[in-house]
Amino acid sequence: MSVLTPESVRAEFPITASCAYLESAYWGPYPKRTAVAISEYVQRRSDSAFPFGRADEDRVFVDGVRSAIADLLGATPEEVWFPKGTTDAISTVATALLKPGDEILVGGLDHPADFAIWANLAERGIRVRVVPQRDGRMNPEDIEHAITSNTRAIGMCLVNTLNGYRQNLEALSALAGDRDLYLFLDAIQGIGHLAIDLSETNVTVMSAGSYKWLCSPEGLGVAYVRRDVASDIIPHNVHFYGIEPADGGWSSYLAKVLGYGVSSQGPQTIPPGTLEYPDAAIRLEISPSIISLIGLNQMVGILCEFGGIVAVEERVLSLAARLRVSVQEHGHRVVSPSEPSGMSGITSVAVPNALGFQEFAKERGVHVRARPATPIGPEAVRVSTHFFNNENDIDQLVLVLDEYDGR
Ligand SMILES: Cc1ncc(COP(=O)(O)O)c(C=O)c1O
Repeated sequence: MSVLTPESVRAEFPITASCAYLESAYWGPYPKRTAVAISEYVQRRSDSAFPFGRADEDRVFVDGVRSAIADLLGATPEEVWFPKGTTDAISTVATALLKPGDEILVGGLDHPADFAIWANLAERGIRVRVVPQRDGRMNPEDIEHAITSNTRAIGMCLVNTLNGYRQNLEALSALAGDRDLYLFLDAIQGIGHLAIDLSETNVTVMSAGSYKWLCSPEGLGVAYVRRDVASDIIPHNVHFYGIEPADGGWSSYLAKVLGYGVSSQGPQTIPPGTLEYPDAAIRLEISPSIISLIGLNQMVGILCEFGGIVAVEERVLSLAARLRVSVQEHGHRVVSPSEPSGMSGITSVAVPNALGFQEFAKERGVHVRARPATPIGPEAVRVSTHFFNNENDIDQLVLVLDEYDGR
């Protein structure tokens, strides 16, 4: 395997040649390899009668990516499935596991996308209580104090989208484990740049869309569900790839299915228990996008060649630390938590008329995202430092911050 360095990885991301792209928390740019691999696939599908990509080969490919994602997350392949995105996975598991009268505690720092899941749970008779954030952080003790005898689950964002605050996963996991609560984590702002090892946690489900820090096409997510929980879930939506063929494999399954249609005695009834679900997360998987998976596969290869996710996190956090120092030295105000355990690749800087700044910076080749004033913090620009960014990108941003007069 070749080895990528902070310098050489930039060539993998052509966007680095044309601008300081500091917006991976919004959209991750596609690596060059992704563009090539997807183009080749599309060309083959267009040119040949039976290109690669027939069902069996697709399944081998999908399972290969599944194993790579399992390695990335400290999970087993049986615990990984590919949903449509972050919220799809959490919503699927939460609606399957929680019953009317159950209570879930969610975070005051959760994303509006999570709020939609939580509000949908409320429609189903589940009591949803929001634990307030404090100073842009979630305090595990506040969550602990909110637990009642009806609490069955905790649902949170692992990394906040506005200020980049990184939850204390260890504390959350202990809280859930000690009280036998489900733990649902939205990790779209973490997976792809933070080292997350699920092997030692009590996380029930964790998911991330592929289009941010995983720099892959949309319409796909990566998701983890703990194996013992997966085997309890009768999926609400089912796809025939996600069920286990009876003993004789697919031909016996096919014979069984078609057998229902040939009775000479009229309609036959399909009894409960006809389907056998594998004892694995794949029972939740519905036709993932092969094109998006081709992209994801390339990105995971690049993360590995960089030295793995621990090396990626180190680089990302060192860039974030440098950004913080540099911005502050120039008199600007960082509004992201400053304790190392709470940091991620997202750093927000207070800027008046942030939308104006976003455009001003873009004209000067620096891409960041304006964020409005919220109860979490003042109007700011969100800066994402990924492993393909460098010190020069940060210097350019600081220069533009210095030049901007808030117009
Ligand atoms: C923190 C967070 N959660 C969830 C979402 C939505 O994710 P998805 O489209 O993969 O469901 C976003 C998208 O911006 C996000 O930033």
